[in-house]
Amino acid sequence: MENYRITIHHEGKVDFYTYSPPIEKLGAGRPLPKAPVFYNPAMKLNRDIAVYAVRAHQQLTGRNLKICEPLTGCGIRGIRFALEIEGVDEIVINDLSPDAFNVAKRNVEMHNLQGKIQVFNKDANLFLAENAAYGKRFDVVDIDPFGSPVTFLDSALSVLRKNEGLLCLTATDMAPLCGVHRDACLRKYGGVPLRTMYCHEVAVRLLISCAVLSAAKREIALTPLLSHSTDHYIRTYLKTSSGAENTNESVEQLGYLIHCPHCHFRQLKPGIARTLTGKCPLCGGDILIGGPLWCGKIQSREFVSQTLENAKKEGDKKSIKLLSTILEESDSPATYYDLHLICDQLNLPCPKLDKVMIRLKERGYLVTRTHFKNNALKTNAPISEILRAIREAQ
Ligand SMILES: C[S@@+](CC[C@H](N)C(=O)[O-])C[C@H]1O[C@@H](n2cnc3c(N)ncnc32)[C@H](O)[C@@H]1O
Ligand SMILES: [Zn+2]
Repeated sequence: MENYRITIHHEGKVDFYTYSPPIEKLGAGRPLPKAPVFYNPAMKLNRDIAVYAVRAHQQLTGRNLKICEPLTGCGIRGIRFALEIEGVDEIVINDLSPDAFNVAKRNVEMHNLQGKIQVFNKDANLFLAENAAYGKRFDVVDIDPFGSPVTFLDSALSVLRKNEGLLCLTATDMAPLCGVHRDACLRKYGGVPLRTMYCHEVAVRLLISCAVLSAAKREIALTPLLSHSTDHYIRTYLKTSSGAENTNESVEQLGYLIHCPHCHFRQLKPGIARTLTGKCPLCGGDILIGGPLWCGKIQSREFVSQTLENAKKEGDKKSIKLLSTILEESDSPATYYDLHLICDQLNLPCPKLDKVMIRLKERGYLVTRTHFKNNALKTNAPISEILRAIREAQ
């Protein structure tokens, strides 16, 4: 590590250090050399929202929190939780890499947080298994890995409170989740992805479904509180509640999504114990079937509102913009319509989103924007009405 430079960064309310590659290895057009300790400034928004969401969880439950971050990198996320959230009693962070462990430890010491944050250097699953005893459970577990969180799901659930626990998951393996590598998605998430204009929402629903099925084995139900898709990753926050009845209700929210690539028709079909036929009820064409995936709501209005309030208190414009759009769409139907893609297919110029939305609203349909895509809308209007509104808005 002697070739690497110590660099000081600032994020949220925290100064911290990490190692950066030697200057002679950096240069225009050269691939970024791998840093020995992971810190990705592009994930700042992910961590900002995490701070506001965990704060919202503390505020809404009224309980002091014990938090676990088993894949911590340089420790920035855990340290931000300690310094930016009131009512946090204890944080445990861990990383398999000895370099990351050393950097995280020094960052904790730099802020005199040794009394609040413990740092470990183990494999995450081993570390979680060692902490799975009753009475030691965490209120929040944040899994923020390279790629998919699925290999850590089971052990994360073993250390999380069975009631009012908060499971935070990041997934960056968008190629499987968005249907570019269909088989990899089926292997990892147990669901078939759909390579459609709304693939990022399907990705969120596949991740939630996979987590729900892992939790169901322990008779734990999961309810999505907040979900977002940003840049190259998706993120979801899920609340636990225990018992067979709650768990049955959450499993009943899993099902399939049928999509017609010929006419844009899509429909959720809750219930995984069903058989589906392959014709579109609208145009009679062959349909695609995605899932099993989560068919229920992926946002909780109350939780998103509280998280947004927290972002507003910090004056954090980027988070406010994202969370405001999520709040707006929180009660909208599943899937969205990308006007650019639809107009491309119809050989029409793409009208302003607002104009199309107004026309649908005037006809009494529910219609909102979506954070998943800029030029897309969510609505309960049938595709025929959306096409009519697009034509009228030209
Ligand atoms: C994406 S980075 C974590 C970033 C961090 N959560 C943040 O917000 O800055 C993933 C980290 O997981 C660590 N890691 C990978 N496999 C692991 C394992 N099996 N057990 C523990 N840590 C692991 C890597 O060393 C890396 O530091
Ligand atoms: Zn069709």
